[in-house]
Parts: sequence; C-alpha cells; structure tokens
Amino acid sequence: DTSMMMGHSGMNHAGSTTGMEAVSVTKLTGPQTGQPDQRFQLVAEKQKVKIASGDVIDAWTFNGQLPGPELRVKQGDLVEVKLINKDIEEGVTIHWHGQDVPNAEDGVSGVTQDAVMPGETFTYRFIAEQSGSYWYHSHQQSSEQVKKGLFGTLIVEPDAGRPAGEQDITVMDPTYVTESGSEVNFLNPIERRTVAPGTPVRMRLFNTGNWPKIFALSGVAYKVDAIDGTEVNAPTNLEHVRLEVAAGGRYDVTFMMPDTPVFLSTDPSSGMFLSANGQGEMPRIVDGPFFDPLSYGSPKATNISTNTTFDRSYVMVFDNRLGFYDGKFERLFTINGNVFPDTPMLMVKEGDLVKTTFVNRSLVPHPMHLHGHHMLVLSRNGRPTTGSPWWVDTLNVDPGESYEVAFVADNPGVWMDHCHNLEHAAIGMTLHLAYE
Ligand code: C2O
Ligand code: CU
Repeated sequence: DTSMMMGHSGMNHAGSTTGMEAVSVTKLTGPQTGQPDQRFQLVAEKQKVKIASGDVIDAWTFNGQLPGPELRVKQGDLVEVKLINKDIEEGVTIHWHGQDVPNAEDGVSGVTQDAVMPGETFTYRFIAEQSGSYWYHSHQQSSEQVKKGLFGTLIVEPDAGRPAGEQDITVMDPTYVTESGSEVNFLNPIERRTVAPGTPVRMRLFNTGNWPKIFALSGVAYKVDAIDGTEVNAPTNLEHVRLEVAAGGRYDVTFMMPDTPVFLSTDPSSGMFLSANGQGEMPRIVDGPFFDPLSYGSPKATNISTNTTFDRSYVMVFDNRLGFYDGKFERLFTINGNVFPDTPMLMVKEGDLVKTTFVNRSLVPHPMHLHGHHMLVLSRNGRPTTGSPWWVDTLNVDPGESYEVAFVADNPGVWMDHCHNLEHAAIGMTLHLAYE
C-alpha cells in the first residue's frame, strides 16, 4: 500500500526545490511582466493602535492598521503587492490564504521565499483567478505574527458582478492577543449599521483566529452563498441554525434586509446590528443546531466524484502525545505519529487526482489548511456529501471525526499542508506537498 508515509520528508527549510525539475519554471511564478490592474503597498510596522475599548496596544500592523487594509480586486486582475518590512526584526512574508497563486507567490518563509527582513522588500504578482472572500497574513512565525495583527482581507469580485445595490459587510475575528497573553477585542463589541429594508446584503464572515468560531444570524432567513470563497450550488434559505467557521475559513452569507432588525452575533458579547435607522429591538439570538455543509445545496458535477479512481491516496491520522519540540516539553500534535519534519510528505505528479483521509484521534479540533489547492469534501465519518460540491481550503476536523477529501494536483511546487491552529503548526503539525 503506497498510501501511507512516504518516509521522512527530506525537505530542508532553505527553500529546496527537490523534485521540481520536470516542471516548467513559468508555472511557478506569477506573470513577471505586464502592467498590474491593481497595485498595493503593504508596510509591515510596529505601531501603537488605539482599539475600541480605548486601550492602546502594541500591534504589528500592515500600514499602521489593525487588521491590515482590505485589498479588493476583480477576478482576473493582475495584482501586484509590494511588501516593505519597516521594523519587524524576525522578518515578514505575505501568504494569500485560499487564493491558489503560483508557488513562488505563496509567501511561505523557508519554503517559497526567505523572510523579508527590516529594510527589505518583496513584490508579489499573481492573477486573482478565484472570486470570493480570502485573506492574507504573514507566514513567518505566523503563530505569533497573525495574533499581533499582521493580517487583512483579500476580496475578489466575481466577473459576473454583484446584485445591484448590494451592501457588502466584512466581519472579522475581533481578537488581539497582547504581550501578556490576554485576549482583547479590538473592534466595537456591538457595531451598529443602517441598512434600508429591501437591500441585498452580503456578510463575509472570517475566522482569522485559532479554534472554530461560531456566528449566529438572527432576525432573517439567509443563504450560505460561499464557503472558503467557492460558491455553493443552489443554496437554500436557513433560519435558526448557527454557523461554525473553521480557523482560517470564511463563509459568505446573503439575505434581503427585512423591515425589522437583524443581528449577527460573533460571540456572546459582540456582533453586528443592522436596522433601517441603526436603532430598534434586538432579535432573539439564535442558539439552534449547527449548519452542515455536507447536505446543503444541490449536487453538481465536478471533475472528482465518489467513483473516481485516484492516482494517489494518503491517510493522515492526528493524535497527541507528550514530547520535546524545540527543546521544550509540550503536548505535541502528531500526524501519523510524527511531528514536522518527520511527518509524511505528499508526493504527487502534475494532473494527479489525489485523495486524502483525515482521522482525528486527538482531543481537540484541527483545521487543516492546504496551500495552493482547494479540497473537495467527499465524506465525513463515512457519510458522503449529498449537497452542493463542498470545496474548502481549510477543513475543521473535530475529535473522533474522519473526512475524505480530494484535490487535483494542478499547481506545481512545494506547498504547506498544516493545522491552522497556528500554535499546532508551530509545534510540528505541518507537512509538505511536493510535485515530483
Ligand atoms: Cu493561512 Cu499556511 O496559512
Ligand atoms: Cu491542530
């Protein structure tokens, strides 16, 4: 059985390109020439930022903002982003979470580039091929840098455009972790907005933190229009269900603004209140069952199905044990018994259809994020997907659960596949996918 354990990854951290000889180099970078349609500059800098509570915190920011600025582009745009590191001593990169860019633009320090040190710059160029809600964050010591503020949203408007007059509202994880380790909410606990009845509304729900995040929308029936940027096929109306978004994941929900107020709770004490005049009675907060993408929407043909013959199959079993990592004794989270760099390496050939089975035998959830590719969820605990094709870039795997997912190996390079509880990734819950 070739499905398990290709042995020691053999990958070093200096940006080895082992196994990529067969791949043409132009597929590994974005377009190097041509006038960009959108050009941004992101300056990584330490900054004192005053948050909603009135406290001033020492943040690490892009352009002095917490979170960093929204980057909004159109599908098909050639996007150019110049990263300048002003004063983050340990270096910075930018990873385009969920946007399947060419490998050299993926922003992973030690794999696709070196970290950008103070005074240095790096320019990313890629075509924004996938529309939807994405985000960017530093991928150098990300377990520390993301919670200090080095992240922001990347919104790609679809070719097809948007319903006329649509209100587009981004909701981000409002948590910032201070030097002393305490969590503070850096946005308004309850933000109020005025939205005229009859307005089409899109709420983009981002979980940029660790652990699954629960969103509850009350006062209106709504659709889950997209998951991790990919549109759901034929979404139906939902009411009285809660949404659990994986760490790193995004849901777009859409609805028509009613005459009465709508409330999105992001945790028991914060959220967003919408009404015709910003005032009115708070709808009762939903505490119903969780939404299940496995059976939501309608089936639609994809290039992968349950009777596909896969070119490669891999199994990843997550567990925990105590052990040393980086000289510290900790609870480690293992993949097939190992921590990085002894985790399995996924080897593929361009064009392969690849199946991966995740089995979580540990005590906590693991949101698995694959770079450069989207995964189609085939089944959970042996039950096949019966709704819309469920594409993800980050899949939360709860304790005791197993999932089968599949992807097409269509983006050559060396890619990370890791847990997006970034602390877990930092203690070895990481592996590499490489093209031979
Ligand atoms: Cu959002 Cu490898 O990360
Ligand atoms: Cu994890």
